[in-house]
Amino acid sequence: MTHAGRLSGRFVALGITGSIAAYKSVELLRQLQAEGAEVQALLTPTATRFVALLTLEALSHRPAESDVMALLPDGRIGHIVTADSADAIVVAPATAHWLGAMANGLAADVITAACLATSAPVIVAPAMDGDMYAHPATQANVTRLRDQFGYTIVEPETGPLASGQTGVGRLAELARIVEAVVTAIGDRPIRAVGDADRPPRLAGRPRDADLDGRHIVVTAGGTREAIDPVRFIGNRSSGKMGVAIAEAALDRGARVSLIAGSVEVALPDAVEITRVESTAELGVALATLLQAGPAGRAGFDALIMAAAVADFRPRHPARAKLRRGSALTLDLEPTPDLLAEAVVVARHLWPTPILVGFAAETGSLERAVEKLQRKGVDLLVANDVAEAGSGFGTDTNRITLLAADAAAEAWPLLTKREVADRLLDRLAARLDARDGVAQTGRSDVPQEFRS
Ligand code: PMT
Repeated sequence: MTHAGRLSGRFVALGITGSIAAYKSVELLRQLQAEGAEVQALLTPTATRFVALLTLEALSHRPAESDVMALLPDGRIGHIVTADSADAIVVAPATAHWLGAMANGLAADVITAACLATSAPVIVAPAMDGDMYAHPATQANVTRLRDQFGYTIVEPETGPLASGQTGVGRLAELARIVEAVVTAIGDRPIRAVGDADRPPRLAGRPRDADLDGRHIVVTAGGTREAIDPVRFIGNRSSGKMGVAIAEAALDRGARVSLIAGSVEVALPDAVEITRVESTAELGVALATLLQAGPAGRAGFDALIMAAAVADFRPRHPARAKLRRGSALTLDLEPTPDLLAEAVVVARHLWPTPILVGFAAETGSLERAVEKLQRKGVDLLVANDVAEAGSGFGTDTNRITLLAADAAAEAWPLLTKREVADRLLDRLAARLDARDGVAQTGRSDVPQEFRS
């Protein structure tokens, strides 16, 4: 059974040493990722003879480190950056030789070097021949790692070994190792929020091009409602959240239409931009996109409403500048709920676009749950705009993702770009699922669209 997301936002270094069990570390990497972790592979030179760097790099999207003398492209020392940013280092499999080196602080490989330099929890899963594991030297090293260094030891299991013998030495079940990582990290704060403090990803491959061929519509920034020709009612949206989503979608190969209200950040060049000021103008821009497809077909795959849309506007904006006086009372009227209206129209399109709303809340999530249902969206990104570092104008955000058909996910404080990347992970999966269903020719496919 998997528990998706328990390592969400975490950065885990996976140390692989030269045991035949090294082939299992590839699957361990996948299981850590399935829990939401970003993984950095570290290998001893011998481990590179058992498992290819290419395999680990293709899966982790990060250069694997195997040379303790190598520098990162930007000149930083790789194993120190890993040591300083990892939320945990898990060494699996750990050979007898590596246990001996670690117990004696001999930092001749990237894994021992990172373990010596880190204050993160270290989890060690030994794997070797049964007699080697039983040897007093190995046992003394394991005891030292556990009792003096405070490392978690995931004891090997009994079973058939590569030598043909049966004994204690088989690498522990991967689920046990993942559990040990989750437990060791516990509720410690994330050590390095954001990519800048972590080792780099592989250049040019920030994410898979999993939105290639998709058309994503994003709204960003705040709307302004005129009081008179010089004054307006506005809000604190900077546009950072919506623009981060637009940029992340572009990087994943999507065609992006960005409807931007008032923003304080530069807009990406490669997106199709519609500038709007008021809620009414935003409504017109959305209606245009909703009608853009040929007769009943959707002209886009997903709508993500990150814009902060005014809920009220002056009923009768003045045509001329209002004169200064002793007092002014504004008569406000509610604006239309554009997202709810878009949902009603979009539900009649084929294939049905995925609709994502945002909810700016202060404190409890109760109102966000109510908004999810009332607006009829597939996903609702709720952010607490009263929390420091979250919501309006910040570079970071802490969100809870609510879904009409899945449990709520509370994400840690992340950069807005990371929130965008994760949101698009969920969106890409939903689009793939949607189209998988569409290809089966289900009976709810409208007759006119069946081929
Ligand atoms: O731009 P930043 O400075 O980066 O800040 C990001 C953000 C805080 C603006 C963003 O993360 C966010 O929360 N955006 C939604 C703000 C908002 O309008 O929340 P709401 O709870 O009032 O509205 C819920 C949803 O309905 C939103 O998707 C909104 O776009 C939409 N809405 C609201 C009112 C309205 N009249 N029509 C709408 O479509």
